[in-house]
Amino acid sequence: MKHKDTQLDPNKLRSYLDLVGYKESAILRELRDETAKLGDISIMQIGAAQGALIQMICSIGQFTKCIEIGVFTGYSSICIAEGMSKNGKLFALDKSREFTSIAEKYWNKSKLNNKIDLVLGDAIDTLDGFISNNLENTFDLVFIDADKNNYLDYYEKSLKLIRSGGIIIIDNTIWKGKVLNTNDNSSSTKSIKSLNDFISKDIRVDHCLISIYDGMTLCMKK
Ligand SMILES: C[S@@+](CC[C@H](N)C(=O)[O-])C[C@H]1O[C@@H](n2cnc3c(N)ncnc32)[C@H](O)[C@@H]1O
Repeated sequence: MKHKDTQLDPNKLRSYLDLVGYKESAILRELRDETAKLGDISIMQIGAAQGALIQMICSIGQFTKCIEIGVFTGYSSICIAEGMSKNGKLFALDKSREFTSIAEKYWNKSKLNNKIDLVLGDAIDTLDGFISNNLENTFDLVFIDADKNNYLDYYEKSLKLIRSGGIIIIDNTIWKGKVLNTNDNSSSTKSIKSLNDFISKDIRVDHCLISIYDGMTLCMKK
């Protein structure tokens, strides 16, 4: 197979993409700056181009009912909620009161608070609650961006909850290149690798792993 890959300087490419690759609203910019003040942990926030793509997907699909697993300070929830239809509802799942209090501040600033319901607690329990409340096959999209060890569980539960034609987006599926390292036996790397292998053979979905930032996989339920 022929490859079109060319050798690019990653820093130059990143600068160029940051210059012309997306539009970031003033509120999202402010949120990124406030999150940066938290220190190294701010790396957990999604990239701006990812946010723009996720927002576009929610807008094209005119989504009305979505789930986010892993809110942190609220960047991706704003992108999902912005893209969703006016009457849309995003269930935003996280276990941290501290991080999500920053998220709530920015949801209010963006006037998206009516579209977002924060559900505090362990995300597995929340998803099980949705399933036992007969919400299977009713959601348009799940964005998975929380603890990596639970990724396969999050994926299976999300697949139950989305309708046919619904989308699951999974962040960090390249995991800083660690998925390429056959000697990396850390539990998070093993978990992401096994999910990537699993999805590549899963006939219930069409999928595409995009090499954007730390990797992001899009799956569409058949
Ligand atoms: C990578 S960050 C999410 C980043 C976010 N999507 C953004 O755009 O800024 C992961 C989040 O998952 C949350 N988390 C980790 N394990 C969890 C669990 N078992 N249940 C619920 N939330 C969890 C953490 O508190 C953290 O806020």
